[in-house]
Amino acid sequence: MTVPSDDILATIEADCDAAVGRAFVALAAEYFAQTRNRDSRVSTPHTPSGLAPRFDEPMPREGRSIDDVIARLRHDVLPDCNHLFHPRYVGHQVSAPLPAAVWMESLTAALNQSTAVFEMSPVGTVLEHRVVRWFCDLAGFPETASGTLTTGGTEATFTALLAARGAVMPDAWAGGVGGNPPVLLCGEHAHYAVSRAAGELGIGTRSVLPIRSRNFTMDTDALRAALQSLASEGRRILAVVATVGSTATGSIDDLETISQLCDAHNVWLHVDGAHGASALFSKRHKHRLRGIERARSIAWDPHKMMLLPLQAGLVLVRDERDLDSAFAQRAPYLFHDSQGERAWDQGTRSFLCSHRADVFKVWVALQRYGADFFGALYDHLCDVAHAMWEMIESRDDFVALHEPESNILCFRYVGDGSMNDEALDQLNRELRERYNVSGEGWITATSLGGRRVLRVTIMNPRTTIDDARAVLDGIAATA
Ligand SMILES: Cc1ncc(COP(=O)(O)O)c(C=O)c1O
Repeated sequence: MTVPSDDILATIEADCDAAVGRAFVALAAEYFAQTRNRDSRVSTPHTPSGLAPRFDEPMPREGRSIDDVIARLRHDVLPDCNHLFHPRYVGHQVSAPLPAAVWMESLTAALNQSTAVFEMSPVGTVLEHRVVRWFCDLAGFPETASGTLTTGGTEATFTALLAARGAVMPDAWAGGVGGNPPVLLCGEHAHYAVSRAAGELGIGTRSVLPIRSRNFTMDTDALRAALQSLASEGRRILAVVATVGSTATGSIDDLETISQLCDAHNVWLHVDGAHGASALFSKRHKHRLRGIERARSIAWDPHKMMLLPLQAGLVLVRDERDLDSAFAQRAPYLFHDSQGERAWDQGTRSFLCSHRADVFKVWVALQRYGADFFGALYDHLCDVAHAMWEMIESRDDFVALHEPESNILCFRYVGDGSMNDEALDQLNRELRERYNVSGEGWITATSLGGRRVLRVTIMNPRTTIDDARAVLDGIAATA
């Protein structure tokens, strides 16, 4: 049956009504309210195959009323999502997002501007340049700096390393990288975005040289030795990637020393600050990032420590021309010659074609909360993680793997100390699974030094020190 065209428009127009929008907003507000209840479940007890039958149905041929759709969301979707706003969700580096930015999302979607081109997003494009400039200023970058929003840290690091490839191998875009690709150095704890970029850029993952860690940060003596040895062999270096807020432990590389070494060897320094660059908002923590202003590029995710909803990432470069030459792409139907004026189109600087105006929520969050709020927020999240570490230090049944430098903490349940390492690996692995299925709290796990450890990330302002204690008690009770 064909739907008459009058009906198409009537259906769309009916859904433009604020009452329809309010039904969705009310559901989100209901979720914000319900997750305040500490007795509610943090996540689902179901496995994927337990959940799949609920949605195992043919594609609907005819639409339903909005009320029916809302009812399905309420009953079938919300209960078994991960409830990141629950105070005892202390899992991955995904935030309990700031409400003003959440509400902004429907307006961003309604406007549907693509910041790839000024003519498709007049205000969005200009705002993106404004917001990028604010972040460049925070990083201490000069007037020549610029950047673009990305879908996250992975795209930001890829883009930065593509720009580095353009600087080291100007012909690579057209001619490929050839048989003698440059080396890419990073800490052994670097995010997989780095080796993934090596694969994507055609230098190959075997060209990645991991530098060993000391206290979970890049060992700068080992970096110095590696740079010297590569120089004496005459090997080209694509870049050194330092990490600010490593994924496993939230540790921060010594950017002062690393930037000096990179300057001395004339090597591109990329800082993966996806997690930790937001420390620049904090009066108490920004000193840890000294040297970041000497980087050639930075990846920075507002969707992490600024608690914005996915997705909002940034890549910044110290010299705008580096980014302009990274993608040597021409599309005359889309990108216009800037004729000596500044180029406002962001599409020439991005992996993407259509480019969602995620800048709107970053801008709205800064308008609503202000930069000082983000500094205080960063401090608070780190304080809760530190308090949790202090609790662990005062107990016998847990051992902390490190004192947290940010809001990420790794630890291990050791019980009464009578079990060997292999048995503890097995116990900690099972412990995480069982504790998460209980619905009481939600944590992650990782491997450090070959041992299985438990890991928490504090990304939710509702998580109090008492919640941190409850999580530890809950894990111990499960054990
Ligand atoms: C240090 C670091 N870099 C990069 C990423 C990837 O960021 P995204 O998921 O935004 O691509 C992460 C994510 O956990 C990270 O911790």
